[in-house]
Amino acid sequence: MTVSEIMVKMVKYSKGNLHDINHFMKVYAYAKTIAECEKVADDEQRIIEIAAIIHDIACPLCREKYGNTNGKLQEKEGAVLAEEFLKGTGLSNEMVNRIIFLVAHHHTFQEVDGIDYQILLEADYLVNADESGYQEANIRNVIDCVFKTSSGKMLLQSVYGIAEGNR
Ligand SMILES: [Fe+2]
Repeated sequence: MTVSEIMVKMVKYSKGNLHDINHFMKVYAYAKTIAECEKVADDEQRIIEIAAIIHDIACPLCREKYGNTNGKLQEKEGAVLAEEFLKGTGLSNEMVNRIIFLVAHHHTFQEVDGIDYQILLEADYLVNADESGYQEANIRNVIDCVFKTSSGKMLLQSVYGIAEGNR
């Protein structure tokens, strides 16, 4: 399947939940943009885009089962749902395994072991900062401690009006 076909599959899977659909559409757009700016390899680009589309696949189930979307529960349930979702997409096993790993770690900010992982964290944060109304102090801290790619940092600064050196 192409990335767009996987996007359509995920939109259908979301059964009209506009909040979830809007969220992953935005994370996908940032992830794709950052990955292209950082000139990652073609395989990595694909992994990043697909992981961004399905990273919150466990949100509806977690809301129903636990009444919240706590990060750790989401990661655990997400791995199982992502594996199921990716069956029949024709992606290589290696790619599927990496995407499942990313879904299962996207709330974990330690031991980021690759540019794909890093870009997913940055793209998700760029969207969550707005959706959850993060304070400027939080954003300034994250730009120094979490963000690593120059395009991710630049986007975060531009979107949230944080001037470089103005801290
Ligand atoms: Fe997310």
